[in-house]
Amino acid sequence: TLFRSEDTSTMAEDGDDAANEYLYKVLVVGDIGTGKTSIIKRFVHNIFSMHYKSTIGVDFALKVINWDENSVVRLQLWDIAGQERFGNMTRVYYKEAVGAMVVFDVTRVTTFEAVQKWKNDIDAKVLLPPDNRPIPVVLLANKCDLAKEGICEDKRQMDKFCEEHGFIGWFETSAKDDLGIEDASKHLVGKILENDTTRGSNAPKKPSGVSLDARPAPQQKDSGCC
Ligand code: GTP
Ligand code: MG
Repeated sequence: TLFRSEDTSTMAEDGDDAANEYLYKVLVVGDIGTGKTSIIKRFVHNIFSMHYKSTIGVDFALKVINWDENSVVRLQLWDIAGQERFGNMTRVYYKEAVGAMVVFDVTRVTTFEAVQKWKNDIDAKVLLPPDNRPIPVVLLANKCDLAKEGICEDKRQMDKFCEEHGFIGWFETSAKDDLGIEDASKHLVGKILENDTTRGSNAPKKPSGVSLDARPAPQQKDSGCC
């Protein structure tokens, strides 16, 4: 399979023989209870539970993707609690992200109404260097194993919505039945790789993305602060 999962603790050993390694920070946002954590758990560990434990603040997971025979992509997934839209921390959480998934729950119209707010929040707070474009964002219509409510029933309307609001695409997903998550991720990673100007035959082995090293990166500014 294209995807394989692992814990951050084992990441150093894997993929070392691939010619190119990329590390990207990806945000997973959306209203409370839409299934962000469940999607990540399914994607990374292939598990699902009906038990709801709301995320507090932010959680992390690492997904390793054998993209092609020469490249390994590591996605650092930032699982941001739905309630954070009402807090002040999203700017901090969004920093240096190169892609995002916005999740809504097909059974609750209010969560779809919030999609635009999440997208606006992302666009206002994170931009892609060097030319400050918005980061690519996919829309996930989650819990598609249940009866849908509202515009997500109409595929044409959903396409139109995505075009108008600058999503690179939308996917019906079910963390419960393991539907759509890999397709959505592939689509997003494809766009992230396209956008990565450091890629190519002369690309450094280490990615342009964020560092997972526990120590803070050395200061690049000559501010004199530690
Ligand atoms: P916050 O952390 O509070 O923002 O919520 P979340 O978006 O992380 O939602 P979470 O993954 O915790 O899921 C909320 C509830 O929805 C849980 O009871 C899950 O079992 C359930 N759920 C998640 N995904 C699916 C799905 O695809 N189908 C069904 N039927 N239930 C789901
Ligand atoms: Mg959660």
